[in-house]
Amino acid sequence: MRAGRPGRRRVVAGILATGVAACSRVSRSEPAANVAPLRSVVAFPVGCAVTTAHLADPTYAALLNAQFSQVTPEWEMKMEYILQADGSLRFEAPDAIAAYARAQGLSLFGHNLVWYSQRPVAFARLDGQPDAFAKAYDGYIAAVAGRYRGRAVGWDVVNEPIAEDGGGLRDSLWSRNLGEIDYMRRAFDQAHAAAPDAVLFVNDYNLESLPRKRSAFLRLAETLLKSGAPLGGLGAQCHLTADLEPGSLSRMMRELAALGLPIHVSELDISLNRAKAGFASRADLIERQSRLAAEVGEAFARLPAAQRFAFTVWGLRDKESWLRSAAENPDPPWDAPLLFDDAGRPKPVLGALERGFASA
Ligand code: XIL
Repeated sequence: MRAGRPGRRRVVAGILATGVAACSRVSRSEPAANVAPLRSVVAFPVGCAVTTAHLADPTYAALLNAQFSQVTPEWEMKMEYILQADGSLRFEAPDAIAAYARAQGLSLFGHNLVWYSQRPVAFARLDGQPDAFAKAYDGYIAAVAGRYRGRAVGWDVVNEPIAEDGGGLRDSLWSRNLGEIDYMRRAFDQAHAAAPDAVLFVNDYNLESLPRKRSAFLRLAETLLKSGAPLGGLGAQCHLTADLEPGSLSRMMRELAALGLPIHVSELDISLNRAKAGFASRADLIERQSRLAAEVGEAFARLPAAQRFAFTVWGLRDKESWLRSAAENPDPPWDAPLLFDDAGRPKPVLGALERGFASA
């Protein structure tokens, strides 16, 4: 959880109180002259992770609206926000994000319904009571996916199900109470029943850097499909490090595409700071960051149109990145993993990504 979110209710109330009217006053500011708006150079949705706090900043909102055509709630559509200790649900923030998206003509992508790393009290207290647990689980997914029926174009139904090292499926509160495949099958079935038009994804990370994890992810996808689960797409988070071996992203995209499902590059950022210590100078890492952006952009754009679900970056400006949280980046040098700098100016990596898209 990112350090401190002071005055959250105030921020959410601010967005709700001014409502979409205030948001609609936000103009589509012209980005820097030498870089075309990202959304204008591609024929598929380009998304950005957002929070209600960020959307309350008109400068942020203007840049977001100019560049992107889709939004993913970064954390306010997860159990950690929605599900209260007494089992009640709160939706102020995700509703505000959904209202903003509708007012600005942006698509909304739901993230996420089930994630191993969330252990809300309301479920932890049902641990070991399979019938009560299953009832609450089905009810939660139906309530959340159903609330955004017709508004969320898709969902990360199950997030990060593969073990860290790729050696199988993760153990979790969900797998222990419902079965290691059945918790996923139930989630997909409930989400599909509640939101039949949404494209339903399984989403994971390090699929580009750990072939073993990628293979396990693809085996899981095939298992779900064979079981009849309404799996509609594969999400590759793409939280990259600038020292990633060239060619890894292209290999990943080819292997994911072979299943024939739509693909969502769901959480792209390219960390300079997480590169191996001493691997290269910062200037060289910045150069590598651009080359990786071009590679993933080209690999995605080369997919058949039916498999290009969306391309999403995990934050707008470097200063909003989760990789700049106090825990992750307490001291300079500050990480610079995104397409726009702290002041909202386009960085070379944006131009590289656009060239990658165009080269396909
Ligand atoms: C992160 C958010 O960016 C943080 O703000 C939050 O505190 C923790 O979660 N993979 C995911 C995302 O699927 O949901 C995570 O987002 C980053 C890793």
